[in-house]
Amino acid sequence: MIIAVDGPTASGKGTIAKALAAHFGLPHLDTGLLYRAVGRQVELNGGDPDKAEDALAACDFADALLDDETLRSEAVGGFASRVSVHPAVRRALFDRQRAFALQPGGAVLDGRDIGTVIAPEAQVKLFVTASTAERARRRWLEMKGRGLDTALAAIEQDIAARDERDMNRVDAPLIAANGALLFDTTTLGRNEAIAAAIEIVHRTLDRP
Ligand code: DC
Repeated sequence: MIIAVDGPTASGKGTIAKALAAHFGLPHLDTGLLYRAVGRQVELNGGDPDKAEDALAACDFADALLDDETLRSEAVGGFASRVSVHPAVRRALFDRQRAFALQPGGAVLDGRDIGTVIAPEAQVKLFVTASTAERARRRWLEMKGRGLDTALAAIEQDIAARDERDMNRVDAPLIAANGALLFDTTTLGRNEAIAAAIEIVHRTLDRP
C-alpha cells in the first residue's frame, strides 16, 4: 500500500506521515529532505540555487548529508524551495522517490507532489493544510524549542513566500492530487491530528 501525504510547510504532514508509517508498519520517506540536501549542497558548493546548472550539480550530494542537522533550518528550507523549481532537479530526484514508493509492501511518502507525480497510483492520498498563521506559530515554537529566537512575523512572511513559490512553479506545483482527501489541521493538536489521519486512512481502505 502506498500512502501519499502532501501539503505546505508546517502543515503537520511530516508528523502525520511518520505516524501513519508506524501505525501501518510501512517505511517512510520525507522527500523534502532530498530537496533540502540539494539546497544545502548548492550552498556548500558556493553556487546559486536559482541557477539550474548549480542546482543540478548539487543533486549528487553524499547520503551522509541527509543526517545533517542544518537541513532543518529555515534558511535551507528556502534554498530547497528555490532549487525545487528546476525541472532538471526534480527529474534527478524522481527515480529515488519512485523506487521508494514501489518497494514491496508499500511505503508512506510525504512532500509536495507525491500524489500528483511520484506515486499517482497511491491507494491513499492526503492533502494536509493549516492556516498560514497557525503554521507560522508551530514553526516559531519548534525553533524556540531549538533555542532559535526568530520573530513570528518574519517566519509568517517566509512561509507565505515559500507557499507562493511552491504553488506557482511550472513543474509539479504544490496542489491537491485528484482524489486526495483534504485534511485541515489548523485547530487540531498533534495527537488529535494523528488520530484523525489514521481514521481517515482506515475509512478510505474500508471503502468498497
Ligand atoms: O517539506 P519541506 O519543507 O522539507 O520541503 C522543502 C522544500 O522542498 C519545499 O519548499 C519545496 C521542496 N519540495 C518539493 O518541491 N517537492 C517535494 N516532494 C518535497 C519538497
